[in-house]
Amino acid sequence: MVLVGKLRARWLAVLVHTAALASLSLLVWDYWQGNFLIDPVREIMPRTGRTALILLLLSLACTPLNTLFGFKAAIKVRRPLGLYAFAHAALHVLTFIGLDYGFDLELIIEAIFGQSFALVGFVAFILLLPLAITSTNGWQKRLQRNWKRLHRLVYLIIPLVILHFAWAGKDFRDPLLYGGGMVLLFVMRVPQLVKAVGAMRHIK
Ligand code: HEM
Repeated sequence: MVLVGKLRARWLAVLVHTAALASLSLLVWDYWQGNFLIDPVREIMPRTGRTALILLLLSLACTPLNTLFGFKAAIKVRRPLGLYAFAHAALHVLTFIGLDYGFDLELIIEAIFGQSFALVGFVAFILLLPLAITSTNGWQKRLQRNWKRLHRLVYLIIPLVILHFAWAGKDFRDPLLYGGGMVLLFVMRVPQLVKAVGAMRHIK
Protein backbone atom coordinates (compact mmCIF):
# COMPACT_ATOMS: atom_id res chain seq x y z
CA MET A 1 0.00 0.00 0.00
CA VAL A 2 2.83 2.37 0.93
CA LEU A 3 4.50 1.61 -2.41
CA VAL A 4 1.26 2.28 -4.33
CA GLY A 5 0.89 5.59 -2.49
CA LYS A 6 4.46 6.59 -3.33
CA LEU A 7 4.03 5.61 -6.99
CA ARG A 8 0.83 7.65 -7.24
CA ALA A 9 2.60 10.71 -5.83
CA ARG A 10 5.52 10.29 -8.21
CA TRP A 11 3.70 9.06 -11.32
CA LEU A 12 5.35 11.61 -13.61
CA ALA A 13 8.86 10.70 -12.45
CA VAL A 14 8.03 6.99 -12.88
CA LEU A 15 6.72 7.69 -16.38
CA VAL A 16 9.81 9.72 -17.39
CA HIS A 17 12.31 7.15 -16.07
CA THR A 18 10.41 4.23 -17.60
CA ALA A 19 10.04 5.84 -21.04
CA ALA A 20 13.62 7.13 -21.24
CA LEU A 21 15.18 3.90 -19.98
CA ALA A 22 12.96 1.91 -22.36
CA SER A 23 14.18 4.07 -25.26
CA LEU A 24 17.84 3.48 -24.31
CA SER A 25 17.33 -0.25 -23.65
CA LEU A 26 15.47 -0.72 -26.94
CA LEU A 27 18.38 0.85 -28.83
CA VAL A 28 20.91 -1.45 -27.15
CA TRP A 29 18.58 -4.45 -27.69
CA ASP A 30 18.05 -3.67 -31.39
CA TYR A 31 21.80 -3.29 -31.88
CA TRP A 32 22.56 -6.48 -29.94
CA GLN A 33 19.96 -8.48 -31.87
CA GLY A 34 21.29 -7.19 -35.18
CA ASN A 35 17.98 -5.47 -35.97
CA PHE A 36 19.83 -2.58 -37.62
CA LEU A 37 20.68 -4.59 -40.68
CA ILE A 38 20.73 -2.29 -43.68
CA ASP A 39 22.64 0.69 -42.33
CA PRO A 40 23.01 0.84 -38.50
CA VAL A 41 24.46 4.37 -38.56
CA ARG A 42 21.59 5.79 -40.64
CA GLU A 43 19.10 4.07 -38.35
CA ILE A 44 20.64 4.91 -34.96
CA MET A 45 21.64 8.55 -35.68
CA PRO A 46 18.14 9.92 -36.43
CA ARG A 47 16.60 7.95 -33.57
CA THR A 48 19.08 9.13 -30.91
CA GLY A 49 19.28 12.69 -32.29
CA ARG A 50 15.52 13.19 -32.33
CA THR A 51 14.99 11.63 -28.90
CA ALA A 52 17.71 13.89 -27.45
CA LEU A 53 16.00 16.96 -28.94
CA ILE A 54 12.52 15.92 -27.74
CA LEU A 55 13.86 15.33 -24.21
CA LEU A 56 15.62 18.72 -24.24
CA LEU A 57 12.35 20.40 -25.25
CA LEU A 58 10.44 18.50 -22.56
CA SER A 59 12.96 19.60 -19.92
CA LEU A 60 12.51 23.18 -21.15
CA ALA A 61 8.73 22.78 -20.77
CA CYS A 62 8.94 21.90 -17.06
CA THR A 63 9.39 25.43 -15.67
CA PRO A 64 6.51 27.05 -17.67
CA LEU A 65 4.24 24.11 -16.83
CA ASN A 66 4.82 24.96 -13.18
CA THR A 67 4.83 28.77 -13.38
CA LEU A 68 1.88 29.11 -15.78
CA PHE A 69 -0.28 26.11 -14.83
CA GLY A 70 0.87 25.26 -11.30
CA PHE A 71 1.97 21.77 -12.38
CA LYS A 72 4.58 21.30 -9.64
CA ALA A 73 5.40 17.66 -10.46
CA ALA A 74 7.07 18.88 -13.68
CA ILE A 75 9.90 20.54 -11.72
CA LYS A 76 10.94 17.18 -10.24
CA VAL A 77 11.49 15.64 -13.69
CA ARG A 78 13.41 18.58 -15.21
CA ARG A 79 16.84 17.23 -14.23
CA PRO A 80 16.25 13.57 -15.28
CA LEU A 81 14.85 14.78 -18.62
CA GLY A 82 18.00 16.83 -19.22
CA LEU A 83 20.26 13.93 -18.27
CA TYR A 84 18.40 11.46 -20.49
CA ALA A 85 18.66 14.00 -23.32
CA PHE A 86 22.43 14.07 -22.75
CA ALA A 87 22.61 10.24 -22.69
CA HIS A 88 20.83 10.06 -26.07
CA ALA A 89 23.04 12.84 -27.48
CA ALA A 90 26.15 10.98 -26.24
CA LEU A 91 24.97 7.79 -27.99
CA HIS A 92 24.32 9.85 -31.14
CA VAL A 93 27.88 11.21 -31.10
CA LEU A 94 29.34 7.81 -30.13
CA THR A 95 27.58 6.22 -33.13
CA PHE A 96 29.13 8.87 -35.37
CA ILE A 97 32.69 8.54 -34.07
CA GLY A 98 32.59 4.80 -33.39
CA LEU A 99 30.31 3.11 -35.89
CA ASP A 100 30.64 5.61 -38.74
CA TYR A 101 34.30 6.60 -38.39
CA GLY A 102 35.78 3.66 -36.41
CA PHE A 103 37.31 6.04 -33.80
CA ASP A 104 39.77 7.31 -36.41
CA LEU A 105 40.61 10.73 -34.93
CA GLU A 106 41.91 12.22 -38.17
CA LEU A 107 38.80 11.22 -40.13
CA ILE A 108 36.51 12.39 -37.31
CA ILE A 109 38.15 15.84 -37.16
CA GLU A 110 37.90 16.10 -40.94
CA ALA A 111 34.23 15.04 -40.91
CA ILE A 112 33.26 17.46 -38.14
CA PHE A 113 35.24 20.50 -39.29
CA GLY A 114 34.56 19.83 -42.95
CA GLN A 115 30.75 19.84 -42.68
CA SER A 116 29.01 22.89 -41.22
CA PHE A 117 26.01 20.88 -39.97
CA ALA A 118 28.29 18.47 -38.07
CA LEU A 119 30.27 21.37 -36.58
CA VAL A 120 27.04 22.93 -35.28
CA GLY A 121 26.09 19.55 -33.70
CA PHE A 122 29.57 19.30 -32.19
CA VAL A 123 29.30 22.78 -30.62
CA ALA A 124 25.88 21.87 -29.20
CA PHE A 125 27.33 18.68 -27.71
CA ILE A 126 30.33 20.48 -26.17
CA LEU A 127 27.94 23.02 -24.61
CA LEU A 128 25.77 20.20 -23.23
CA LEU A 129 28.76 18.66 -21.42
CA PRO A 130 29.10 21.25 -18.58
CA LEU A 131 25.33 21.19 -18.06
CA ALA A 132 25.36 17.40 -17.58
CA ILE A 133 28.45 17.51 -15.32
CA THR A 134 27.08 20.28 -13.08
CA SER A 135 23.57 18.86 -12.84
CA THR A 136 24.13 17.45 -9.32
CA ASN A 137 23.00 19.15 -6.08
CA GLY A 138 26.67 19.46 -5.06
CA TRP A 139 27.57 21.50 -8.16
CA GLN A 140 24.38 23.54 -7.83
CA LYS A 141 25.45 24.54 -4.28
CA ARG A 142 29.06 25.17 -5.28
CA LEU A 143 28.22 27.39 -8.25
CA GLN A 144 25.32 29.22 -6.55
CA ARG A 145 24.02 32.01 -8.80
CA ASN A 146 26.43 31.02 -11.58
CA TRP A 147 24.68 27.63 -11.82
CA LYS A 148 21.55 29.30 -13.16
CA ARG A 149 23.64 31.44 -15.51
CA LEU A 150 25.49 28.38 -16.81
CA HIS A 151 22.28 26.42 -17.35
CA ARG A 152 20.90 29.27 -19.47
CA LEU A 153 23.17 27.76 -22.15
CA VAL A 154 20.18 25.60 -23.01
CA TYR A 155 18.68 28.68 -24.77
CA LEU A 156 21.62 28.49 -27.16
CA ILE A 157 21.93 24.69 -27.34
CA ILE A 158 18.37 23.99 -28.51
CA PRO A 159 18.45 26.47 -31.44
CA LEU A 160 21.86 25.00 -32.42
CA VAL A 161 20.42 21.46 -32.39
CA ILE A 162 17.46 22.57 -34.52
CA LEU A 163 19.82 24.28 -36.97
CA HIS A 164 21.92 21.08 -37.06
CA PHE A 165 18.73 19.07 -37.69
CA ALA A 166 17.57 21.35 -40.54
CA TRP A 167 21.05 21.34 -42.09
CA ALA A 168 21.52 17.55 -41.76
CA GLY A 169 18.31 16.57 -43.52
CA LYS A 170 16.62 17.13 -46.82
CA ASP A 171 13.31 18.22 -45.38
CA PHE A 172 12.66 21.46 -43.45
CA ARG A 173 9.16 20.52 -42.27
CA ASP A 174 10.16 18.59 -39.11
CA PRO A 175 12.89 21.02 -37.97
CA LEU A 176 10.34 23.83 -38.45
CA LEU A 177 7.84 21.97 -36.24
CA TYR A 178 10.43 21.45 -33.50
CA GLY A 179 11.55 25.07 -33.95
CA GLY A 180 7.94 26.23 -33.49
CA GLY A 181 7.70 24.20 -30.27
CA MET A 182 10.95 25.76 -29.07
CA VAL A 183 9.73 29.33 -29.78
CA LEU A 184 6.46 28.61 -27.93
CA LEU A 185 8.39 27.32 -24.91
CA PHE A 186 10.66 30.40 -24.97
CA VAL A 187 7.60 32.70 -25.12
CA MET A 188 6.04 30.84 -22.17
CA ARG A 189 9.05 31.92 -20.08
CA VAL A 190 8.71 35.66 -20.81
CA PRO A 191 8.50 37.25 -17.30
CA GLN A 192 5.66 39.64 -18.27
CA LEU A 193 3.54 36.70 -19.48
CA VAL A 194 4.33 34.66 -16.34
CA LYS A 195 3.33 37.69 -14.19
CA ALA A 196 0.08 38.28 -16.11
CA VAL A 197 -0.96 34.60 -15.90
CA GLY A 198 -0.01 34.49 -12.21
CA ALA A 199 -2.19 37.56 -11.53
CA MET A 200 -5.12 36.00 -13.44
CA ARG A 201 -4.83 32.74 -11.46
CA HIS A 202 -4.77 34.80 -8.24
CA ILE A 203 -8.03 36.60 -9.14
CA LYS A 204 -9.76 33.24 -9.78
C1 HEM B 1 29.73 15.81 -32.69
C2 HEM B 1 28.45 16.12 -32.69
C3 HEM B 1 27.43 15.63 -33.71
C4 HEM B 1 27.60 15.02 -34.92
C5 HEM B 1 28.91 14.70 -35.63
C6 HEM B 1 26.28 14.74 -35.45
C7 HEM B 1 26.04 14.12 -36.66
C8 HEM B 1 24.79 13.93 -37.20
C9 HEM B 1 24.54 13.29 -38.48
C10 HEM B 1 25.60 12.68 -39.39
C11 HEM B 1 23.21 13.34 -38.68
C12 HEM B 1 22.46 12.81 -39.91
C13 HEM B 1 21.96 11.43 -39.58
C14 HEM B 1 21.22 10.80 -40.74
O1 HEM B 1 20.27 11.38 -41.23
O2 HEM B 1 21.59 9.71 -41.11
C15 HEM B 1 22.61 13.99 -37.55
C16 HEM B 1 21.28 14.24 -37.42
C17 HEM B 1 20.71 14.76 -36.26
N1 HEM B 1 21.35 15.11 -35.10
FE1 HEM B 1 23.33 15.10 -34.82
N2 HEM B 1 25.34 15.17 -34.54
C18 HEM B 1 26.00 15.72 -33.47
C19 HEM B 1 25.43 16.24 -32.33
C20 HEM B 1 24.08 16.27 -32.08
C21 HEM B 1 23.48 16.65 -30.82
C22 HEM B 1 24.26 17.12 -29.59
C23 HEM B 1 22.13 16.53 -30.97
C24 HEM B 1 21.03 16.76 -29.98
C25 HEM B 1 21.16 17.09 -28.74
C26 HEM B 1 21.88 16.09 -32.34
C27 HEM B 1 20.63 15.92 -32.89
C28 HEM B 1 20.41 15.53 -34.19
C29 HEM B 1 19.09 15.49 -34.79
C30 HEM B 1 17.78 15.89 -34.15
C31 HEM B 1 19.28 15.00 -36.11
C32 HEM B 1 18.22 14.78 -37.19
C33 HEM B 1 17.61 13.43 -37.03
C34 HEM B 1 16.61 13.12 -38.13
O3 HEM B 1 16.92 13.35 -39.29
O4 HEM B 1 15.56 12.61 -37.79
N3 HEM B 1 23.10 15.93 -32.97
N4 HEM B 1 23.60 14.32 -36.66
